[in-house]
Amino acid sequence: MAWLRSLDLDVPPALSAPLAVVVVLAVVHFIRSGLSKHHKKIQTPSRSSTPADYKFPRPGPYKDWSIETTKPLPYRAFRYGPKYAVTMGLRSIQAEDWIELDNHYPKYHADKAARLLERKDKCVQTSPEAYPAAIELLDELAEYLPARYPSLFKRTAVGIDNIWSGESFNITERPLKEDPMAIAARLVQDDLAIMMEGPDGRYYLKAGAILLAGFWRLSDKLGMPLEEIHTSGDVPHYNEKLHRGMASFFTRLRCEQMYARNNYFIQVDDALAWSWSIGDEDSPDVSWSTAEKDRAIKHHYFRSERQSLRRLPKTRAVVFTIRTYFHPVTDIVAEDYVPGRLASAIRSWDDKVSIYKGREKYEGVLLEYLDAEHQKQLDRGLEMEKEDEVRKYPW
Ligand code: HEM
Repeated sequence: MAWLRSLDLDVPPALSAPLAVVVVLAVVHFIRSGLSKHHKKIQTPSRSSTPADYKFPRPGPYKDWSIETTKPLPYRAFRYGPKYAVTMGLRSIQAEDWIELDNHYPKYHADKAARLLERKDKCVQTSPEAYPAAIELLDELAEYLPARYPSLFKRTAVGIDNIWSGESFNITERPLKEDPMAIAARLVQDDLAIMMEGPDGRYYLKAGAILLAGFWRLSDKLGMPLEEIHTSGDVPHYNEKLHRGMASFFTRLRCEQMYARNNYFIQVDDALAWSWSIGDEDSPDVSWSTAEKDRAIKHHYFRSERQSLRRLPKTRAVVFTIRTYFHPVTDIVAEDYVPGRLASAIRSWDDKVSIYKGREKYEGVLLEYLDAEHQKQLDRGLEMEKEDEVRKYPW
């Protein structure tokens, strides 16, 4: 017991052996409890850190916003090659930028109303366990929208009025007149999804109003965990590049944080709600293989989603918003640097990304057109080295 004595304690020799056992046990207990606390900390660093009564900050009004004159934000979220990097691509955003509205609102509003009428629960669903979260989302929108877009919305004692459309939504009555996700979807240009943590710690799609998604259907994905949503759609490089990061992101996301990401697609028809080129919306299998090859350039459309993610404080569900920006390719090529950069981005897709995005069906026509438009820009004196001064991702 030399080591015990070396602690310079006054221990009688008869007691030193039992005392050594006690000390060893105490040290083991200390190490184990310390380790297990540390382990918990790594897995769930933030779960308890935001109180249920956390208040989402009230946004200021969007400067000079008008349903007639505010143009869609020009997201051109593609990068030069030669290598296409698959990443989560999340960036932190300000809480006031949660929902973006512009002068395309009337079209989106009308398209959504038509979709709700025609397709009903094929595109809107709230699972019973997600009902409180859907109500919480509605409450948040009824607070946020009138503060952010006061010329479009008015807060009322029972909910929210749309001043432009004349619609009045009572969100306190029970039962509600329609699914809370449908009411929420009528207010904004975005599609909306609610993800909830299951007993296994994974996040499941439990409610959605997916009305203008173009390439996927709520009825195929409702109830699925995050990874199955993506693997069932063959999202390229999901397992090796996205799976772990996404799972940990969902666990750690705090109510006071908000994130966004953008993507982009090309489609070869002009339908915002459902890109029929990949097959009828009601057919069991839809795929790029059915699309017509080499359609004229006027049929090529650029589609970019701006998605946001935030956690609701009361139900702790995660709200995923998907706002689609949709333009003819022939419009966006008028912007400096866009045709050259888009052509470079498309050429940088590897085989898996190309198959997912249907490149084979349009690359012949599209790349030739983009190259020619890029050349026109160079011929009129576009200075390539100045691009960073004009545009920066995601613009
Ligand atoms: C951290 C959050 C997320 C990341 C990083 C992510 C990433 C991706 C990526 C890379 C794709 C391929 C297309 C693209 O480039 O966007 C994709 C597709 C998709 N994602 Fe996500 N995603 C996220 C969250 C979600 C959530 C919450 C949903 C729930 C509805 C979702 C539903 C989908 C669907 C339905 C597709 C299309 C799949 C298909 O083609 O069938 N994603 N996602």
